[in-house]
Amino acid sequence: MEHDAIAVVDFGGQYAHLIATKVRHHGVLAEIRQPEDQLDAFRKYRGIIISGSPSLSSHGEDSAYTKGIYDLKVPILGLCFGHQEIAKHYGGKVIHGGREWGRAQLHLNREHPIFAGLGPVEQVWMSHFDSVAAVGPEFEELGFTVNADGSTDHRFAAIGSDSLRRYGFQYHPEVDDTVHGDEMIANFVLNICDCRPTWSMDGFLEEQCERIRNQADGGSVFLLASGGVDSTVAAAIIGRAIGPERLHLLHIDNGLMRKDESSQVLQLIHQLGLDAHVNFVDASETFLSALGDETDPERKRRIIGDTFIDVFQVEAVRLGLENHLLGQGTIYPDTIETGATKRSDTIKTHHNRVPIIEQMIAEGKVIEPLADLYKVEVRELGERLGIPHDVVWRHPFPGPGLGVRLLCSDGTADRSGFDTIEPALEQVSERFGLDTMLLPIRSVGVKADLRAYEHPVLLSGSVPWPTLTDAASTITADVPGINRCIWNLGGAHPQAIRPLAATVTRERLDVLREADHVVMQALARHGLYHEIWQCPTVMVPVQLDDKQGELIVVRPVLSQRAMTASPAELPERMLDELRRTILALPGVGSLALDITSKPPGTIEWE
Ligand code: XMP
Repeated sequence: MEHDAIAVVDFGGQYAHLIATKVRHHGVLAEIRQPEDQLDAFRKYRGIIISGSPSLSSHGEDSAYTKGIYDLKVPILGLCFGHQEIAKHYGGKVIHGGREWGRAQLHLNREHPIFAGLGPVEQVWMSHFDSVAAVGPEFEELGFTVNADGSTDHRFAAIGSDSLRRYGFQYHPEVDDTVHGDEMIANFVLNICDCRPTWSMDGFLEEQCERIRNQADGGSVFLLASGGVDSTVAAAIIGRAIGPERLHLLHIDNGLMRKDESSQVLQLIHQLGLDAHVNFVDASETFLSALGDETDPERKRRIIGDTFIDVFQVEAVRLGLENHLLGQGTIYPDTIETGATKRSDTIKTHHNRVPIIEQMIAEGKVIEPLADLYKVEVRELGERLGIPHDVVWRHPFPGPGLGVRLLCSDGTADRSGFDTIEPALEQVSERFGLDTMLLPIRSVGVKADLRAYEHPVLLSGSVPWPTLTDAASTITADVPGINRCIWNLGGAHPQAIRPLAATVTRERLDVLREADHVVMQALARHGLYHEIWQCPTVMVPVQLDDKQGELIVVRPVLSQRAMTASPAELPERMLDELRRTILALPGVGSLALDITSKPPGTIEWE
C-alpha cells in the first residue's frame, strides 16, 4: 500500500531521527532525506519537516541545500535551524544571539490548528545560539517565550504563514521536555498536511516481508545469529518472509560472549522454530589470535568485525552457502553512529558497518530488515513475531561483545593534557567535597555530536547521589579533556593510579564474564533489570595504589533509544553485594560505578 509520507530533512545532530520516529508513532510514514537530495526526491511527500542542526543559520552555514523545496506546495515545518531557515527564506532576519537552553514557557498568541487541543501556555525545550529577529510580511507570530520577570524573551518562538503553509518552531517538539510536542507534530502531520495515518507496525511487517521476498528472489539467506534482540528479530522476520527452510543461521562463538550465552542462543533458535539449518562454530581461538596485542579501540573493533566476516566467509564456503544473501540485524542507531549519514561524525565503528559489509551492501547482497527502526520499535516487532518477552526485553549487547568492554593498554601512562586538566579539575571538584584523580588511559565519548577520546576521572567520597551526578555533569562540561566520571566503590581515595599492560586474553575475558554475570544477577535480584536500559561491566587495566588487580567499572544507564542516556542509581544494598562479590574475583583490585550521562560519555567505553 502507498502511504502518505513526510520527509524529514536531516541537517545533522540526532534530532532528525527522533522527529521521524515521532511522526511514525502517529501512523504516518516518515523518511529521512538529505538536504542536498534532488528536488524530485521530495515530490512524493505530503509535508516536509526541516530538522535542527549544529550549523549556524546566522552565519549562512549549511545553506547549499535544495531550496527548491520552498517552491513545493506542501506544508513545511522548520524546527530550530529549520525554523530560522524558513524565516530567512521568506524575508525575515536571523541573528547570532538570543541563546536559550533548557525549558521555556511558550505563550500562544491565538488559537491555531497547529496547536489544536493545547493550552495557552506550553512547556517547550530550547537549545539554540541563533534566533529569528524579524519575519517576512506573510508571516505571523504564533507564540513567544517569556523571561522569569515576565518580559518577552523570544518574540518569534513559533511563527507561521497559513497562506504559504510554512511554520517554524524555535524549540524542539520532538524531545520529551516539550510536554505536548507530540501533539504539535501530530497536528502538523495529520491536520495541516492532511496525512492519512496508515503506517503501522503490522503494515511494516508485511511490507518488509514482501521486500525480503523480492530481494531474496527465490534464494536463501544466511544470517549470523548472536542471540541479541536485533539479530533474533531479524531472523524471525526473514524466516517469516521466506520460510525457515531457506534461512541458514550461523552462531559464532567469538569468545567475547556473556556467560553460557552460546548454549542459550541455540536453545532459542530451536524454540522459535528457526532451526531448519543451524550451524555453530567455536571461533574463540581465531578471534583471540586476531586481536593479538592490539590495544587501540577502533582497531580492536575493526579486527573483531573483519574476523567475523572472515569466519563467516570460511563457514559459508564450508557450508556451501557463499552465494547467499547476508542477513543482518542492523538497527538505525548503528548506521548513524558509524557516520553512515552525511552529517554525523564517526563516533564508533559498528561491526556491521565495516568496509567489506559496506561493499556487500552496495552490491545489494545484504538484507537489513530493521535498518530503519529504533530499539523500541524492534522490540515491538519482536513481540508481534512471537519472540519470548524476556528475549525481546533483554539488555542490548554490542556485536563486538565483551571486546569493547575489555580495555587494553601497552602499560604506558597516557597523561597527555594532565598539566592543564588537573588544576581545572581541582577547582571544579572542590565545591562538591569529592577527591578526584585522572585515569592515565582514555575512553570513547561523544561531545557536541563528535567523537571524544578522553580521560575518565575517578571521584572518591561519600556524598548523596544528586551531588555525585551534578559533579559528573559539571566536571565533564567545564573541564576540557574529561568525558567520563566514575565513582570509587572500593574504599579510600588512591594516592596513585598506574596503567597495567593488558591485551585481550582468555583469562581477562573470563574474569570480566564472571563480573558481568554477577552484575546481571544482582540487577535481576533487586528487580532492576527491566528498569535499567543496559548495564555494561567494563574491565580497565589500571591499578589503584598497591591493590593487586584491575579496575572493574559498572555502568548502569537509563535510556530510551541509546542515543542519550543518564546514569542509574543503584541501591546501597546492591552496591555492597557488588563490592563483596566483584572485589573477591581473582584479577580484580578495585571497583567503580560510572556516573556519566551520554553525552558526553557513550554507553560503552570503547
Ligand atoms: P554507545 O556506546 O555508542 O552505544 O553509546 C549505543 C548502543 O549501541 C550499542 N553498541 C553496539 N551495538 N555493535 C552493536 O551491535 C557495536 O559495535 C556496538 N557498539 C555499541 C551499545 O551497547 C548501546 O546499546
